[in-house]
Amino acid sequence: MNKKICITGASKGIGLAEANLFAPTNELFLHATSLNSFKNKSYPNAHYFGYDFTQLENIDAFVKDIQQQTNSLDVLVNNAGLMFIEKFADFPDKDLHTLITLNLHAQLLVTKKLIPLLLKSKDPQIVFMSSMSAKNRIVGESVYAAVKAGIMQFAHVLRNELAGKIRVSTIYSWGVNTWNDTENAAILKPEDIAETLDFIISRERPMLVESIELGHENHWNGATAPWSPK
Ligand SMILES: NC(=O)c1ccc[n+]([C@@H]2O[C@H](COP(=O)([O-])OP(=O)(O)OC[C@H]3O[C@@H](n4cnc5c(N)ncnc54)[C@H](OP(=O)(O)O)[C@@H]3O)[C@@H](O)[C@H]2O)c1
Repeated sequence: MNKKICITGASKGIGLAEANLFAPTNELFLHATSLNSFKNKSYPNAHYFGYDFTQLENIDAFVKDIQQQTNSLDVLVNNAGLMFIEKFADFPDKDLHTLITLNLHAQLLVTKKLIPLLLKSKDPQIVFMSSMSAKNRIVGESVYAAVKAGIMQFAHVLRNELAGKIRVSTIYSWGVNTWNDTENAAILKPEDIAETLDFIISRERPMLVESIELGHENHWNGATAPWSPK
């Protein structure tokens, strides 16, 4: 492919699987909370950035660092995010703030501030990592669902605003095994998401994968997930 790809939250889980898949043939701009998160990683053509995005002022420094390494970007993958699960009445205020800041506010700011670099590419793309939680009603996921639905709607409008300039796509996934799955939930592998991203960013213009929903044929499909609080 040979693209310049920026992936936020690329040190583990889904972002790491994406970095592993794209590293051999692309130039990568990989972000995590800290450079320590990348110790023992040495991709052939990668730049590493360590910034905690819950401190929103770090985003300017992150973008400045990227600008020092490149004058264009082909793909931005907005992946960095966390999930906290609790019934809303018991949801800690601190976690509420972190989820909204990291999973929503930071993704919007990163996107806004990297649009100028993306516009320097001949074929720029932005991909958001939303979740099927945005579309479901799972007990314990009220705040997570709210921020993922926020990303869904934001991406829909951004896609129209940037039409003809930057292609905007969103991935909605059911559970992906980025933790030690002990509940034997029907969940996908991080590599499944990486391959989906590969499909999206290797489509040629004018085709646009607007949204893609990923499930598991045996998934639970009700109001509670195996990890919902009882
Ligand atoms: N796993 C699922 O079931 C699933 C399903 C659908 C959607 N998603 C979404 O997919 C994305 C990745 O999920 P994942 O399961 O792969 O997560 P993960 O394994 O927990 O990895 C999270 C990544 O985000 C980074 N990160 C965490 N806190 C951060 C902060 N304060 N500032 C900047 N970066 C931070 C982490 O960096 P450090 O290593 O430095 O902490 C790490 O690289 C998230 O947006 C998630 O909501 C996940």
